[in-house]
Amino acid sequence: MEKKNIDWGNLSFGYVQTDYRYVSNFKDGAWDAGGLTTDANITMNECAGVLQYAQTCFEGMKAYTTEDGRIVCFRPDLNAARMADSCRRLKMPVFPEEKFLEAIVETVRANAAWVPPFGSGASLYLRPYMFGSNPVIGVKPATEYQFRVFATPVGPYFKGGIRPLTVRISDFDRAAPRGTGHVKAGLNYAMSLYAIVDAHEQGYDENIYLDSATRTCIEETGGANVIFIKGNTLVTPKSDTILPSITRRSLLYVAKEYLGMEVQEREVKLTEIGEFEECGLCGTAAVISPVGKIVDHGTEYTYAGFGPGIQKLYDTLTGIQMGRIEAPEGWITVIE
Ligand code: PLP
Ligand code: COI
Repeated sequence: MEKKNIDWGNLSFGYVQTDYRYVSNFKDGAWDAGGLTTDANITMNECAGVLQYAQTCFEGMKAYTTEDGRIVCFRPDLNAARMADSCRRLKMPVFPEEKFLEAIVETVRANAAWVPPFGSGASLYLRPYMFGSNPVIGVKPATEYQFRVFATPVGPYFKGGIRPLTVRISDFDRAAPRGTGHVKAGLNYAMSLYAIVDAHEQGYDENIYLDSATRTCIEETGGANVIFIKGNTLVTPKSDTILPSITRRSLLYVAKEYLGMEVQEREVKLTEIGEFEECGLCGTAAVISPVGKIVDHGTEYTYAGFGPGIQKLYDTLTGIQMGRIEAPEGWITVIE
């Protein structure tokens, strides 16, 4: 299979239309057989549930080329399970988890020419998503849905590649107690757009949100969880209103089992962030992006950027994802 003629090393985190995407429709209480299509466009009614009341959720995952030339996916079963949780919270029908995994494999296989080569620093980003597609005008769940997966080759999430980021403590809130912060609902991202545009205008790379009930604890950023390091200890916020990041959950395991670090998943007070030596943002898109500075209304906290802790976590996680380091049982799905 011949790879596409792309300058892989200079890709940013953007949409590139690839050849195939997976589509399945839910109607009369059941999912159809589903399959691949070359049609990247969607036609739907003007009153579709997603257009009126934002009934949509999504996932984000990546396919990589390993050093020995295989194409693999990282823990796709956890994305399938999280999407099922998002669907239940949004009153959408669950796309069966085993069908989700088949859809991922089919989409990646069909777009194998778009999977960036090993060592390019790029990967194939996969975006499974679902939305209410039939007309809904009273506020209620749709009865018809579409599940899709598209693929797009991507480079680093933050502009300028992997470099120490400057982030601010946001005055806006992201998720309410007992709201939807713990699922991957499109609405969580719609309401963060004002804050991210404002952050960029003020010269910041991202917003760190606080818990909206007390505004005293660190939650997460618009698109990634947060990790802190002090000495040999990895600390990450525990909260019911943040997205359960698969990268963060994997890093906790890697830190403990591969690197012999102490790990703490607990409330992280805003008043203690000055005590940490390193900070990073973790997620599928962000991988581990080092933070150089957190600004809280004029008070600046500085961190080591690619300090020794972030560096070894990054090397071990990406080593596992790209087949250089042996993965824990079940973490890698070989696609071909
Ligand atoms: N938090 C938010 C708000 C996100 O959008 C993401 C991205 O998926 C993450 C955290 C990281 O999650 P994961 O590591 O599963 O990609
Ligand atoms: C991901 O990391 O996959 C996400 O969905 C985050 C998004 C902000 C790009």
